[in-house]
Amino acid sequence: MPLTPIPVITIDGPTASGKGTVAHLVAVRLGFHYLDSGALYRLTALSAMRKHVEPNDEHGLAKAAAGLNCHFKGEHVFLSNEDVTAAIRAEAVGKFASCIATLPTVRQALYALQLGFRSPPGLVADGRDMGTVIFPRATLKVFLTATAEARAERRFKQLIGKGMSATLHDLQKDLNERDERDASRIIAPLRPAEDAHLLETSNMTAEDAVAQVLAWYAAARKREDAHPAAK
Ligand code: DC
Repeated sequence: MPLTPIPVITIDGPTASGKGTVAHLVAVRLGFHYLDSGALYRLTALSAMRKHVEPNDEHGLAKAAAGLNCHFKGEHVFLSNEDVTAAIRAEAVGKFASCIATLPTVRQALYALQLGFRSPPGLVADGRDMGTVIFPRATLKVFLTATAEARAERRFKQLIGKGMSATLHDLQKDLNERDERDASRIIAPLRPAEDAHLLETSNMTAEDAVAQVLAWYAAARKREDAHPAAK
């Protein structure tokens, strides 16, 4: 009997486009595993920052990525058994993560780790290059967008809700800088895969976005069942 490939749904998009929320809800709805690939870059950044590795020390950063001792439990993220769920969300860590994500050796060091998240019954993976580089043969690829204003406002509400301080102006500036860096890097830049479905979420609730992704997934499965060799 032919082996049925483990289905993967990739959800890529810029910072604060809502991909984390949507990907997590889709995974829950389907009973699939969930990969927050941005968390791996953030974990690498946090680990490197704590070891005082300089942002230009490519060898030291690749070593931090390759030696990452992390695990996920529900919505919690652990670095060497320490719960760093909140620590990796700090803006400084996100900024450092975006910088080190430009380095090919860091991306290479995290490649196999990301592939390892694909296990039965399926995976929802969110990030910047899930559909273009890590899972190019995914069953469904989605690319989320939202205006810079909508994204800054979302991030602002998230941070304030967590009791962190932030200003809309600073967030917008940081977001624009990060978009620019993520989209202009030479390796695995932020861009939709050719066969990705685009979803503009500025005026959409998370529930609406989830419903759309689930509908696309049902259609993709139907197509795969009809033409099993297509992917
Ligand atoms: O999604 P996030 O904001 O948690 O990601 C943090 C940084 O990690 C982001 O600015 C760019 C980088 N990243 C990446 O380069 N590739 C991914 N697949 C995920 C994140």
